[in-house]
Amino acid sequence: MAQLWGGRFTKETDKLVYAFNASIGFDKRLFRQDIEGSLAHVKMLGKQGILTKEETDKITDGLVSIRKDVESGVLAIDESYEDIHSFVEAVLTERIGEAGKKLHTGRSRNDQVALDMRLYTRIQVETVEELLKELLTVLLRIMEENLDTYMPGFTHLQKAQPLTLSHHLGAYFEMFQRDRLRMRDIRARMNFCPLGAGALAGTTFPLDREYTAELLGFDGPTLNSMDSVSDRDYLLEFLSALSIVMMHLSRFSEEIIIWNSDEYKFIEIDDAYSTGSSIMPQKKNPDIAELVRGKAGRVYGDLMALFTVMKGLPLAYNKDMQEDKEAAFDAFDTVKNCIVLFTGMLDTIKFRKDRMAESAMRGFTNATDAADYLVGKGVPFREAHGIVGRLVLYCIEKNTSIDALPLAEMRTISNKFEEDIYEAVSLKTCVEKRLTTGAPGRAAMEKVLAVYREYLV
Ligand code: ARG
Repeated sequence: MAQLWGGRFTKETDKLVYAFNASIGFDKRLFRQDIEGSLAHVKMLGKQGILTKEETDKITDGLVSIRKDVESGVLAIDESYEDIHSFVEAVLTERIGEAGKKLHTGRSRNDQVALDMRLYTRIQVETVEELLKELLTVLLRIMEENLDTYMPGFTHLQKAQPLTLSHHLGAYFEMFQRDRLRMRDIRARMNFCPLGAGALAGTTFPLDREYTAELLGFDGPTLNSMDSVSDRDYLLEFLSALSIVMMHLSRFSEEIIIWNSDEYKFIEIDDAYSTGSSIMPQKKNPDIAELVRGKAGRVYGDLMALFTVMKGLPLAYNKDMQEDKEAAFDAFDTVKNCIVLFTGMLDTIKFRKDRMAESAMRGFTNATDAADYLVGKGVPFREAHGIVGRLVLYCIEKNTSIDALPLAEMRTISNKFEEDIYEAVSLKTCVEKRLTTGAPGRAAMEKVLAVYREYLV
């Protein structure tokens, strides 16, 4: 296949070298962005009088016809070309003749690929933000339905204090909302156009970079031509943010796996989102949650690959940077898939409120409240902590719980306990009296939900 750069060479490229160097196998997915960028470039060349009106029209029509034919399947992307840029230019010249050879005036593949990748990534950032919004919408729905679904809260995976399912899920709402804001930040920071940077030092043609940037929906052109062709920070930022999304999904998945276990039975994952075992007929496995947890590692790997590629590269463009694409595409695809599947799984989970409440009653989750009760009776907290510690030990020995212990026995440990202790350590009181901002009590949660609803309009 004839290369764009054959002129100064006297020998054919070795076949293995050609294949090793080629990127069309993966950069073909930049096809639409490549055409879009070329259309803007040629319009600007025409406006500046660098190309004639006739040339501009011919190139524009040619590019539009190529886009149409690839999209309809009439024209297949020929993977014997080195990259998507070479393919488009070759077909263009084949279709419109000499004018096609002028498309690349004042442009290099270095700024061309930098543009294509930015345009493609911008769409991915927006898509991830939308997918996160859908996940948040499902989360909010479940939160609204479970304001008084009591469950144990854990620290060290040991029962700690009672709270509600709504409150527990609220923690994930916060995480995914921060992820969404990160997408907006990244979009704002990356939205500058590298086209016109040339190979590395700009060009002597009188390009109007501000105009091209505007045509392509950017906030302006990038301001240093060397940085323009060698900056992949926006990809690193995006992959970092995607890694954080995956970390959140992975933690949530882990909880779903635990809640789904026979020991907990807090939830039931819908049949449509579960899988069976080839040998054990009774099995219904949480494979989707496990795969999402596993794929977090894969996305971290993509991020590390790109960091390692970029480390130590001198300015400006180096071919190493072609390696950005496969890692980035893999991360984009993986994360989008994971959010969609996770959202579907979450949306169809059945929560076993009875099991959750029952679990919240056991394990002395009301011990802190018993201590707080004594504080209310004038006992200093540290002393109250000690009294309730002894009370818990007594209950463990008698195989009972604080709320089931007769008052007379309680009073052998402290005579500050009175009849109102039972009300003070009931599950309902333990949750509903927690009313500080961000706490699980219903009145506190209602205020937070009002804020969350605003995020989703
Ligand atoms: N395929 C290349 C990449 O993805 C395009 C830029 C090629 N530039 C060059 N000078 N060889 O980075």
